[in-house]
Amino acid sequence: MTSFEENLKMSWGKIPTGVAVLTTLEANGDIHGITINSFFSLSIKKPSLLVSISKSAKSHDLIVKDRKFGLSVLNSDQKEYGEFFSRNSKEKLPDKFDLVLMGQGIHVIKNSLIQFSCELDFMTSVSDHTLFAANIIKVNSNDSSPLLWHKSNFL
Ligand SMILES: Cc1cc2nc3c(=O)[nH]c(=O)nc-3n(C[C@H](O)[C@H](O)[C@H](O)COP(=O)(O)O)c2cc1C
Repeated sequence: MTSFEENLKMSWGKIPTGVAVLTTLEANGDIHGITINSFFSLSIKKPSLLVSISKSAKSHDLIVKDRKFGLSVLNSDQKEYGEFFSRNSKEKLPDKFDLVLMGQGIHVIKNSLIQFSCELDFMTSVSDHTLFAANIIKVNSNDSSPLLWHKSNFL
């Protein structure tokens, strides 16, 4: 990373954000996840959201292929999920991880703060990322506290 990139990363890190895990299915049916903090609501009237995914992430091509995904906004007890799914190489999901089916082959993390089931609507390439706009098919939430990402730490 150049010093400019390091400074940029550190500067963005000053803003606390929520953390989510986007889940897709691999060709063999295994659940694949990626930790993200680039996600936001697009529309309530036409229920939709936007995520920004690096073209180099394995999840990128899985979203393009599946055209659907789960999005679990993590609660403050789910730091381990955020850490695991940010790893470059993820072999088997830890046995203690609990994912549940939300319908149509879409899995989400049990007890996460918000659970979205999404169908891809539109995608556009921007630099080294793709913006994926998805229709929200289902949403559940509970009253737990959000996990935060601040200054490169999960809080
Ligand atoms: C807090 C946090 C937020 C992240 N947000 C994003 C994001 O919004 N988009 C993205 O493409 N990668 C993001 N990443 C990096 C991915 O989680 C990481 O590159 C992961 O290894 C990609 O997994 P995959 O290649 O198996 O899909 C984030 C990582 C962390 C720790």
